[in-house]
Amino acid sequence: MDKSQIISLLQSEGEERSELFRKARETRDKLIGNKVYFRGLVEFSNICSKDCLYCGIRKSNDQVIRYEVSDEEVLDACRFAWMNRFGSVVLQSGELSSPAFVKRVDRLVREIRKLSDNELGITLSCGEQTRETYQRWFESGAHRYLLRIEATNRDLYRRIHPDNDYHSFERRLEALGYLRESGYQVGTGVMIGLPFQTYEDLAGDLLFFREQDIDMCGMGPYIEHEDTPLYEFRHLLMTKEERFDLALKMIAVLRLLMPDINIAAATALQAIDPAGREKAIAIGANIIMPNLTPTFYRKEYQLYEDKPCLDEDAELCRNCLEARIQMAGSEIGYNEWGDSKHFFKRKGTGR
Ligand code: 5AD
Ligand code: FES
Repeated sequence: MDKSQIISLLQSEGEERSELFRKARETRDKLIGNKVYFRGLVEFSNICSKDCLYCGIRKSNDQVIRYEVSDEEVLDACRFAWMNRFGSVVLQSGELSSPAFVKRVDRLVREIRKLSDNELGITLSCGEQTRETYQRWFESGAHRYLLRIEATNRDLYRRIHPDNDYHSFERRLEALGYLRESGYQVGTGVMIGLPFQTYEDLAGDLLFFREQDIDMCGMGPYIEHEDTPLYEFRHLLMTKEERFDLALKMIAVLRLLMPDINIAAATALQAIDPAGREKAIAIGANIIMPNLTPTFYRKEYQLYEDKPCLDEDAELCRNCLEARIQMAGSEIGYNEWGDSKHFFKRKGTGR
């Protein structure tokens, strides 16, 4: 598929759009099966040293009460995931690089391995770090890492980040390279429907994923947040429904481009449509990240407006998710890591 074909699929409507969705689902079912895997998400700290212009927990947003979930609470949430036969957990936080932070994540990874008899898969999503830090966390037992590229058009990247070296596209790209060298299954992704973003940019994002030969992808609609600088450009946005639809098309096209990778049904989809994640599952996604962050902290981890499930406790979430996934015609891969098939193929060929 070349760029112009991708753009035309992203703009498809009616019969053509339904055909895209049908094909994407069929491709997933044929290549990797219809199972959906859970990654219990623990947003263990909202303290962030960066100032991305779109993000609600950016450093300069003083409306947010900063928190750190205690080690004990993080481990309790992971124990919940393990007892409920989730295959894996994701530890996510704002971006920090202090020695204390690096050490803390390292300790948490080891403790999670221990409490689950090495059964829980561990994904980290803690931003850009040095090669040494990535290696250290990998050696301690994390084996997947999510670091979204956010936007692959350099000009767009610049417009949604502060203009300094600390927020550079090149650094982000370099970090993705370190992750891969360290041995992780590497996941990246973008936001869809950003101000200034074009269809061509989005097609470029998808081609970037293929070029980088990524193992996992998480991408969802951009949702404006009142206390961020990008809010100023909200008049440029498509409607939320259009962003939602475009996000589904991005997922479907990516499934056709990279049939054997893991694709997450992003939580931001659910902020627009209560059944958003299930809709993504129905057209080719295969990963869901139920939120296991202790509810007390959740309202302070609002990257965007209308973030769902702010008061639901984890048990409730699980029951309702299960029913919804079955309704979407998929089955849950309990107790399985649900690793990216692509990763093993890539390893097998020594790439
Ligand atoms: N809308 C949608 N997604 C957002 N993220 C951050 N802010 C927003 C927003 N306003 C996404 C980024 C980040 C991930 C953790 O959350 O893509 O990588
Ligand atoms: Fe959170 Fe159902 S998924 S309440």
